[in-house]
Amino acid sequence: MAVSSAASGRTSPPAIVYVAAAVAALGALLFGYDTGVISGAILFVRQDAQLTGGIAMSPGLEEVVVSAVLLGAVIGAAVGGALSDRLGRRWTLILAGATFIGGALGCMLAPSVSVLIAFRVLVGVAIGGASLMVPMYISELAPAHIRGMLVSINQVALIGGILVAYVADYALSGTGNWRAMFGLAVIPAALLMAGMVFMPESPRWLMAHGRADEARRVLARMRGGGDVGAEIDDIRHSLSQQGGGLREVVAPAVRPALIIGVVLAVLQQVTGINTVLYYAPTIVEDAGLSSAGASLLATIGVGVANLLATIVALTLIDRLGRRPLLLTSLAGMALSLGMLGVVLGHPGLIGAGGGAAVVAMMLYVMAFAIGLGPVFWLLIAEIYPLKVRGTAMSIATLANWGANLIVALTFLTLIDLLGRPETFWLYGALSVCAVVFVYLRVPETKGRSLEEIEAAWRTGTHAAAAAKPPVP
Ligand code: BGC
Repeated sequence: MAVSSAASGRTSPPAIVYVAAAVAALGALLFGYDTGVISGAILFVRQDAQLTGGIAMSPGLEEVVVSAVLLGAVIGAAVGGALSDRLGRRWTLILAGATFIGGALGCMLAPSVSVLIAFRVLVGVAIGGASLMVPMYISELAPAHIRGMLVSINQVALIGGILVAYVADYALSGTGNWRAMFGLAVIPAALLMAGMVFMPESPRWLMAHGRADEARRVLARMRGGGDVGAEIDDIRHSLSQQGGGLREVVAPAVRPALIIGVVLAVLQQVTGINTVLYYAPTIVEDAGLSSAGASLLATIGVGVANLLATIVALTLIDRLGRRPLLLTSLAGMALSLGMLGVVLGHPGLIGAGGGAAVVAMMLYVMAFAIGLGPVFWLLIAEIYPLKVRGTAMSIATLANWGANLIVALTFLTLIDLLGRPETFWLYGALSVCAVVFVYLRVPETKGRSLEEIEAAWRTGTHAAAAAKPPVP
C-alpha cells in the first residue's frame, strides 16, 4: 500500500494543536533560560563568601560551574530518546518539568559550590532531554503543511528563554540575588509540568504502542473532527514496515538519515554560533564601547536579532522549504564570518565606531536564525522512522551537545593558537563545507507527512529530491 497524503490536508487546525505546541515549548523556554541565566548569575556566585566558604573561586572552578549544564545536557540527550519511546512523549515532558523544578530549587538553595554544580548538572539533564522531546512531540501532533512552523516554535521559545534570562539577570543585578536568578525557572517548569498533564499523548506514539483507539481519538481532536482514517492507516502501514531496536537505527534504510542528523548536529555547533553569542560583549568592548550598559545592549541586541530572524524563518519554512532556508543561512553565515574575521584583523576598522564588527556579528546571528538554528531541530524530528525516532534523535542530539561542549572548551585555545580572525575564518570555512553537505545530502521534507518521508527513505526517492537544485 502506498502512503497517501492524508496528513497534508490544508484545513486550518483547531486551537488545541497550537496550545499543545505552546505548552511543550515551555521546555525549550527553560532550555534557553537555564543556559542563558548563568552569564549574569556567575558574577555574583563568585562573590558570595557564604557559598564559597570565603575562598576566592579559581577560574577553573568557575568554568566548571558554567559548563556543568553542558555535561548534564549530554546525559539528558543520551537517555531522553529511549525514555520517550518507552514512557511516551507526554510523560517524559512531565518528567523533564519535574527535573527542571528540582534543579532550579537545588541551585537556588545550594549551601556550597559543589551542591550548586551538582544541581546545575541536573538542570542540564532536563535541558538535554527537553531539547529533543519538544520538537519530537510537536512534530508528531502537527498537520504536515504547518509542521515546520509549529516545530520551529521550539527555537523561538529557546531564544525567548535566553532573552528572559538576560532581563532577569539585569533586573536582579542591583541586589546581586543570584539565588532568585536560578529560582525563577521554577515558574515555567511548573507550568510545563502541570500543562502537559492536560495535553494529549502523541497519536504516533500511541499507535506504536498498540493503542489505536486512543490514537484515533487524539488525532480526530487534532484535526478538528475530520476523518482521520487515512492518516491512521498510513501510520499503521509505516509501522508494519519497521523493525525496532538499536540494529534498526543503523539499518540501510535509516543510516542516511542518521548520518544527516549527526553531521548537521555537529555543523550547527562547529560553525560557531555559541562563541559569537558569548563573544558579543567583548566585540562591542573592543569597538570602544566599554561601559557595562553597552555590553548589555549588545547582548540583548544580538538576542533580539536572533529572535526576529527566527520568527521570519517560521513564516517561510513551510512555504520555501527546509533546503532553501538552510542553504541561504549557511551561505550568509560563511560570508558574515569572513567579514567578522577581516574586521577583527584590522583594529582600525573596529575603532571607526565599531560599526563593522557589530554589523558582521548581527548578520551572522540572523543568518543562523533564518535556517540552521531552527531547521536542524526540525529535521531531526522529521526524518526518522517512528519506531527508532527516540533513539535516533538521541544520537543526533548527543552529537549536538557533544560538539557544543568541544567548541566551548577549544574556543579560547583556538584564539591563542590561530588568532581571532583566523578562528572565525575557520568557522566560516566549516560553514562552506556545510553548504556542500546540505546541497548533496539533505532532503526536502516540506509538506510531506512523517509517513511519506519515511517511505521515501525505503524507496530511495529522497536521494533524487536532495540532488535536485533547491526550489527558489
Ligand atoms: C542551538 C544552540 C544555540 C541556540 C541559539 C540552537 O538551535 O542548538 O546551541 O545556543 O540555537 O539561538
